Order: sequence, then structure tokens, then C-alpha cells
Amino acid sequence: MEGFWYFLLTGEVPTMEQTLAVVEDFKSRAAIPGYVFDVLRAMPRDTHPMTMFSAAILAMQRESLFAKRYSEGMKKTEYWDPMYEDCTNLMAKLPAIAAYIYRMKYKSDTPIASNPALDLGGNFAHMMGIAKPYDDVARMYFILHSDHESGNVSAHTTHLVASALSDAYYALSAGINGLAGPLHGLANQEVLGWIQGVFKKLGGKLPTEEELKKFLWDTLNSGQVIPGYGHAVLRKTDPRYTSQMEFCQKHLPDYPMFKLVNMIYKVAPDILREHGKAKNPWPNVDAQSGVIQWYYGLVEYDFYTVLFGVGRALGVLANITWDRALGYAIERPKSVTTDMLEKWAAEGGRKLG
Ligand code: MLT
Repeated sequence: MEGFWYFLLTGEVPTMEQTLAVVEDFKSRAAIPGYVFDVLRAMPRDTHPMTMFSAAILAMQRESLFAKRYSEGMKKTEYWDPMYEDCTNLMAKLPAIAAYIYRMKYKSDTPIASNPALDLGGNFAHMMGIAKPYDDVARMYFILHSDHESGNVSAHTTHLVASALSDAYYALSAGINGLAGPLHGLANQEVLGWIQGVFKKLGGKLPTEEELKKFLWDTLNSGQVIPGYGHAVLRKTDPRYTSQMEFCQKHLPDYPMFKLVNMIYKVAPDILREHGKAKNPWPNVDAQSGVIQWYYGLVEYDFYTVLFGVGRALGVLANITWDRALGYAIERPKSVTTDMLEKWAAEGGRKLG
């Protein structure tokens, strides 16, 4: 993960030496202020973990070097520097905050102390209390969920809020709030619930291809969608789906839920094409990710979006560091009047104003 952070910020694949240097740098930034735990512990335990995660991030805003330097009158050409510091400081702490929320909320309040000898992914698995190869699952999951084209709600929100020169704590907390929505990050838990429901409805065993096809047709004909299929911009199998599939083929090839996911992948695209309503009949990242978490014992659905959030932070924090380096202006949508909208509609919605 640390090497990936280097890659996102520089566009270059780091050498092992450079990666290890970043690992050490992250360790020096990993300590979490005690008041963050106080904030988390003050919240009712049935608070959604995404609310806890967002609140913990926002609570640390007082640590912002960007806000401090801005109030001291730093030059615009220097903005990127404290933004980089804030983003790296945040990234170094997020996995431990997520693991703390998990252990506090779901594991009878038994947080596991960090092991400073481990890298970010290894330490996360350790603090979650999940054995190997979950460290690799964590690294893969976080990297794959970092970002892919920045138009999604969480990436765009983080960028938008930071464009007001709000610091990284304000911006990321806002992005995490967007990720919490069921049409965005929360979708992966819905997909897993659906896959488990299919398994149950089809008798708790793997269906035949014919049984599965019938089930999928019935689903579509009753006006429902196939969760995990389709994407706003992708028009082929999401490469993040493929990477996770390859991981499953290596580590859990016989897991019935994985086999069912693969069967759906085999039959669903043709059915969706024939049905004709979906613009993209291919699976997206969510179609596979929950199954892996469940297999490794992470059965608390609500927490999946927090995992997504740790990964998304990698991408969006790198983005806003670059936003400040490139001197991006504040973002503001074009304002339109009702007249302009009516004219636009009359012209077939082709151009505005
Ligand atoms: C994501 O990575 O956030 C999802 O693929 C959603 C999107 O990009 O629209």
C-alpha cells in the first residue's frame, strides 16, 4: 500500500528501497491522537461504522498543517506541501482507526494494539485479528478501491470540498459521507446479501446453469436488477472484478459462494444483453468483493464500506494533493435559469444556455 501511495503521487513504480522508505515514513506518522478514541467511544455503539469513520477523520481536523499554514499566509505555490503532509498523515492513520472501530463495535470492545514492525496492510490485518492471507486481501482490496476515474461521488466530493481550500480532513470526511450511500460504497454489501439470498432460494446448493438462468430471468422480469452488474462509465468487465476473481481462483477456488459468483458471470452478461435494458452487461468491482470478506470471517456487512473508505482514501488524498500542486480553482457548477432549462429541453437537451 505504501508503494502504491508513492506510485499515485509520482506516477512511477517505486524501487524496493523507495517502498521501504515510504513504509518507514508512514510508521512515523501512524500515531492516532487519544481524543479520536474518546470521540469514537462517546458514540452509541449502534452508530453506523461509516458515521464513526467520518467523525474520527473530521475530529482530527485540528491537526491540519494546511489550515495552520494557510492562516499564517502561505503562498499559493506552497499549498501542495502541507496538503501532502496532511494527506500522508491521514493515510498512515486510517487503517488503524478502521480496525479500532471494527473491534470496538463488533468484537466486544477488544481493540488490538498496532504492531509497529508491520507495513500498513499487514498491521491492518493484525489489528482486525484476522490471520494470513488477510494481509494480502487488505492490500489488494485497498489498492483496488483507491479510485479509477474520479467522477464517482466520493472522489468528486473530496475534490469539490478541497477546491474551497478546505483541508484534507474536511474534504475526506465529506467524501466518506458520499461513499456511505447505497448507490455508491454501500453497494458491495447489498451484492453479497443478494448472492447469499440466491444461494438460499436455490436450495442452499449450487444451482445448475439452467436453474440460474431461470432465476436471473425471473429477477429481471419482475423489474429488479442483477446487483453488481452494470456501471456508470465502464463498458466491459471491471478490471477490479477480474483481479479479485484471480485472487479467489488462487485462494478459495472451491468456496461455493465464489463458484456461484463465477456462474453468474458466465450466464448474466448474455441474459442482460438479451433483456436489452442494461447499458453495460458486465460485472463491476462490487460483484466479487463482499464474498472475499465473508470468506475470511468478516461477516459484518455494515463494515464493508469502511474498508472501501480506507481504500478510496488512497486515491482521493493523492488527487487533492495534486489539485493543490496544479493550482486548481474552486469548483462551481454553472448556474442556470428555468428559461435556459426550458430552451435546452426544447432543443432536445443537447446544449445548455
Ligand atoms: C467506484 O469505484 O466508486 C465505483 O465504481 C463507482 C463509480 O466509479 O462510479
